Amino acid sequence: MAEFAANSTFESLPPYFVALLSVFILDTFAVMLSGAVQPVYQSAKKAIEISHGVSGNSTYATLDGTQTTLSGQMYMMGLAAGAFEFDHVIEGSHPSSSVFPALFCVAAAYGKSGKDLLSAMAVGYEFATRLGYAVGGEDAEEETSFHAMINGSPATAAAVGNLLGWDADTIASAIGLAASSSSGLYAWINTEAMTRRTHPASQGQLGAEAALLARAGIAGPPDVIENTYGYLSAFSRQPEPEVLLENLGTEWMSAEQVLKALPVHARALGFAYAIDQYREEHSWSAADISNVTLYAGPPTLDSRNWILEPMSLSTAQYSIPFGIIASLVTDLRNPLNMNDALVFSPTARDLAANINSVSISDDPTYFYGYMTFNIGTEFANVTVDHYPGLPESEGYEQLAEEKLFAVLRALGLEEDGDDLRNKIANLMDLDDVSTILDELISLGTIGTRNYLAGSEN
Ligand SMILES: *[C@@H]1O[C@H](CO)[C@@H](O)[C@H](O)[C@H]1NC(C)=O
Ligand SMILES: *[C@@H]1O[C@H](CO)[C@@H](O)[C@H](O)[C@H]1NC(C)=O
Ligand SMILES: *[C@@H]1O[C@H](CO)[C@@H](O)[C@H](O)[C@H]1NC(C)=O
Repeated sequence: MAEFAANSTFESLPPYFVALLSVFILDTFAVMLSGAVQPVYQSAKKAIEISHGVSGNSTYATLDGTQTTLSGQMYMMGLAAGAFEFDHVIEGSHPSSSVFPALFCVAAAYGKSGKDLLSAMAVGYEFATRLGYAVGGEDAEEETSFHAMINGSPATAAAVGNLLGWDADTIASAIGLAASSSSGLYAWINTEAMTRRTHPASQGQLGAEAALLARAGIAGPPDVIENTYGYLSAFSRQPEPEVLLENLGTEWMSAEQVLKALPVHARALGFAYAIDQYREEHSWSAADISNVTLYAGPPTLDSRNWILEPMSLSTAQYSIPFGIIASLVTDLRNPLNMNDALVFSPTARDLAANINSVSISDDPTYFYGYMTFNIGTEFANVTVDHYPGLPESEGYEQLAEEKLFAVLRALGLEEDGDDLRNKIANLMDLDDVSTILDELISLGTIGTRNYLAGSEN
């Protein structure tokens, strides 16, 4: 895998995957901009200003413009990407938030080109995805108590190694050192804790720092993945190491990301999206909704996510019934409508607490179904049979674009959308990616100020 990371080049990537990487970046920029106004980001900012200082050196700024160190920047960019749980996902890893932000900061710090960034991003995405599958996907979380995205740390180290042109031995050492800082406990799942939102930020930051340490001569175990006391041994009860090397470099497993159109749990997306389609032709007041019944399969009705009375925004976004109710109660096409006010609104809470469900399939992959509810005395039956954010769906790229514009609109930055979208589309011709990071920071600085001023009034 270290050889793969050392030898991968932009030219070795198939065009369809390069095109997808642009979509992923577009999506992640939207996610980061919406994350920088979230409470967890704003809280972390106070701590980062203490631990990293406000250096007065404008080289490194966080997304809202606060000046910091490279490490502080990597952490806060990762936090922005994870703060709203709006990042694209694949089973067992979240490269969007746990690899890309830190890698992007390192690429900007070294003045790397768009092609360099895309090549390294492909390595990081693929590394995280395969490690996620190799530990047994999301089931490993239940078996080991480790959060699946712990693979962000070694994946970021591999990506940084590719970015900076290191040889395979150096990269193996970097992966070894980085994997030693892989952690993230699953204990947020049955509490109201916010740790799930911070895990990707730590992964990216620690992975990139470890890579720089390894390069400077602090050796990591080069066989850390398969070592008896290594990564797979620690994080998996039923490892599948063969998936790591199978067609590596020719098959891009990480291409299969699920894009989130709305800031709800991935398995609530089909229903929440269908409500928005229904909204195109109907309008209603949340107070008139009653008697909501979901007819669905196992992914939607999973007991882990069947949280009827969430006590925090984070838990509400993890709750499948609450995510669906949220879409009925408010228009989540402005994603920032998913907020504390909604989570604690009596209307939304009452509908979620009283939601009904009927199982209509035993198929563990059955994502769809339908739902019924009353609007006043009218009966509504909404069919859920299409979601464009699933891999290879029609409308996939458009979804990411619309999401970027929706976030920019919510932050008062809509007129900057075309320019940002075009820059991302032409990333492969960019000589120095720091220009696009600077632009993102300038949008984040203005956007967070606009939004936070608006929510104070
Ligand atoms: C800011 O930091 C960069 C990178 O460490 C360094 O090259 C530069 O000289 C610093 N600038 C100032 C004004 O200290
Ligand atoms: C509630 O919805 C269910 C399922 O559609 C239906 O059978 C029931 O009659 C409804 N109850 C009311 C009071 O509308
Ligand atoms: C609602 O629509 C589904 C198809 O999506 C259909 O199977 C079901 O019978 C309908 N239910 C009612 C009560 O109309």
